[in-house]
Amino acid sequence: MVEKVQPVVIEKAVGAIITDTQGKEYLDCFSGIAVVNAGHCNEKVIKAAEAQMQKLVHCCSYVYYSQPTANLAEKLSQITPGRLQKTFFGSGGAEAIEGALRLAKQFTGKTEFIALQSSFHGRSYATLSVTGNNARKRGGGPYMAGCTFLPAPYCYRCFFELKYPECHLRCARALEDIIKFNTYDSVAAFIAEPIQGEGGIITPPDDYFLEIDRILKKHAILLLIDEVQTGFCRTGKMFAIEHYSVEPDIMAMAKGIADGFPLSAFIAREEIADSFKPGDHLSTFGGNPVSCAAGLANIEFLEEQKLADEALKKGEYLKQQLASLKAKHNMIGEVRGKGLMIGIELIRDQNKTPANTEGGKIRDFCLGKGLLIGLGGSYGNVLRIQPPLVISLKQLDQTVKILDEAFQKN
Ligand SMILES: Cc1ncc(COP(=O)(O)O)c(C=O)c1O
Repeated sequence: MVEKVQPVVIEKAVGAIITDTQGKEYLDCFSGIAVVNAGHCNEKVIKAAEAQMQKLVHCCSYVYYSQPTANLAEKLSQITPGRLQKTFFGSGGAEAIEGALRLAKQFTGKTEFIALQSSFHGRSYATLSVTGNNARKRGGGPYMAGCTFLPAPYCYRCFFELKYPECHLRCARALEDIIKFNTYDSVAAFIAEPIQGEGGIITPPDDYFLEIDRILKKHAILLLIDEVQTGFCRTGKMFAIEHYSVEPDIMAMAKGIADGFPLSAFIAREEIADSFKPGDHLSTFGGNPVSCAAGLANIEFLEEQKLADEALKKGEYLKQQLASLKAKHNMIGEVRGKGLMIGIELIRDQNKTPANTEGGKIRDFCLGKGLLIGLGGSYGNVLRIQPPLVISLKQLDQTVKILDEAFQKN
């Protein structure tokens, strides 16, 4: 969970290339934390935003109507999975999660939440309450009552010390125990990221959410999916939960929604959404017309350029190259992820001691060589490769070359 400030003063950026104020170029493999999926300063997105700026910048979309906001809401109802239908817009990821949690309470009349260990859902009070990481929560407690945590589907460091598939998804089945022993029959929703981003690109087995969903349905608990980091083609599908064949009841999104314009949203099935009456929930900047116009153009671009398929293809290509680095460098414990959301977990020895200080050194070495990558994980030892999806294969080769050198020298 290390996102300390990097000593780069950015002047401009295009595609996957960032230029600093000294004219030095960097290959961006972090996308401003998985935001600019369609590339920095994407022409189509900028044009749409510019055109909207000439007409209307702000009106408060919860007091008055505006067409770009309606257009984007309609588009989201078309591209989100299952029966997700009605959207509420905010400005950032935490705001979307806050609203989604509140909606789950309002619809069910229940007050508890179950979340995953090593999850991250934002830095506001309720979102930190359902965040399963002590480093993020430090200094802010006590948190909201009624939040309880389930071990994460972190196969590389299995909480139950079992192996998939012989474990028969022990971590998912533990949800029954959590409900029975840790809650008081008032669970509104189970909240999870389909792939944990800040937690270290923790990628659940393919049948994980099916088992979770089976247990939730049995107990009439809503499934609230946090696509803030995984959404908008990042993992090779428009939304990462589509890899797992379950239908969320409520879904939150932000980051990749508008290629860098501040915007977030949560969407729910109609009967759930309708438990908010007009005025129950409001956001002054939420659904800003410029951000929404940018968001619509961004989604059109992602679709036109088939960037979900591209992310899958490029992700497989990159994982193959990283597998050959793993064969060369003992420090690489595991390479995992889907599409262009890839984590490289670093270890110090056969006991999988987390190589966290080494992770920082590798990131700094890459920075010196003009490559921007992320660092995260509960132990601060997971390199995060999350480039704009428009990155070229040549640029991916360059990424692997610099990483190879970084592993040799650190
Ligand atoms: C999965 C997830 N949820 C929520 C958030 C919070 O988003 P924001 O920083 O826009 O509030 C983040 C941010 O990293 C995230 O990765």
